[in-house]
Amino acid sequence: MSKVRAAITAVNAWTPEYILTNAELETMVDTSDEWIRTRTGIHQRHILKGEGLGTSHIGIHAVNGLLEKKGIAATEIDLIICATTTPDMMFPATANIISDGVGATKAFSYDINAACSGFLFALETASKFIESGAYKKVIVVGADKMSSIIDYTDRTTCIIFGDGGGAVLLEPLEDGDGIQNSSLHTDGSGKVYLHQKAGGSAKPATAETVAAKEHFVFQDGRPVFKAAVKGMSSAINTVLAKNNLAVNDLDWLIPHQANIRILKSVANMIDIAEEKVVINIERYGNTTSGTIPICLWEWEDKFKKGDKIMLSAFGGGFTWGALYLTWAY
Ligand code: ACO
Repeated sequence: MSKVRAAITAVNAWTPEYILTNAELETMVDTSDEWIRTRTGIHQRHILKGEGLGTSHIGIHAVNGLLEKKGIAATEIDLIICATTTPDMMFPATANIISDGVGATKAFSYDINAACSGFLFALETASKFIESGAYKKVIVVGADKMSSIIDYTDRTTCIIFGDGGGAVLLEPLEDGDGIQNSSLHTDGSGKVYLHQKAGGSAKPATAETVAAKEHFVFQDGRPVFKAAVKGMSSAINTVLAKNNLAVNDLDWLIPHQANIRILKSVANMIDIAEEKVVINIERYGNTTSGTIPICLWEWEDKFKKGDKIMLSAFGGGFTWGALYLTWAY
């Protein structure tokens, strides 16, 4: 028997029906399908439409599907952690709204905000509750309604992001498989390159901040691009070393889907075979906290028990890291 590890024992994801294509974006801003495909790898993204529907709507769909798939009741869940950058409201936490929406009446719940690294940070946090023996069934949700903070007149950001998310169930396992360890990082000085200017306590919402479009994502793309490649590849190398692994030992690399060129540069820097890198950015764009669980869900059928999987992300903050796990089923 090895030590108790937190293992992902089920995964599910949900994306809204409406698809915003590059062709439609061409009618909204001065861009082209060709520019978007070659610069980002994105062909389309899903957008959540509908009055009053926020990130919890995505999370509730993902969690309900997860519970159904696993055949367990919501009342069996001990804890729900939701990683999101686009909470339904400043408070209460979106995790609480999801918890209520699915009927997880015995769970406590809270949010984690680490932008595009949110799912990774939440997974690491959740794994400790399982390893400590405190809880047996923990759900981690990664979901974002990025369209709620995107300026659809700004061609530098509106082409990148989409809405969607997923959820995983973590349970204790003693056969050695599950979450092994990670290397997580933040550098707050990176905030100048990627942030939302207003709507928080430093600059509360006013008619002026709304008129100045300060409630949308501000991004200086180039420094973010460079820091993402450096941060993700160095975190992956750190975690490989920590686990005495060579890159060839990995079965899969699941990177946050930021930009196809970032993913290819990271793959190149760590020298991993192309077919081991999970990529679906062409269909979803960058769903922030949603990308990694959506990838896990889409690739679930390809994973085998014991597969060596590296997750890695980079996001606003700056936040970045890598987490190594072996697949449990
Ligand atoms: N269509 C056509 N032209 C465009 C578009 C567009 N949608 N957007 C920018 N351009 C133009 C620019 O105006 C510029 O024109 P100029 O040369 O006349 O000045 C030219 O294209 C090149 O612009 P760059 O910004 O240098 O383009 P770049 O190749 O860097 O691509 C991008 C921009 C896609 C934003 C890239 O920098 C990127 O992906 N950055 C990282 C984004 C990211 O991954 N963020 C992750 C975290 S997100 C989070 O945490 C919430």
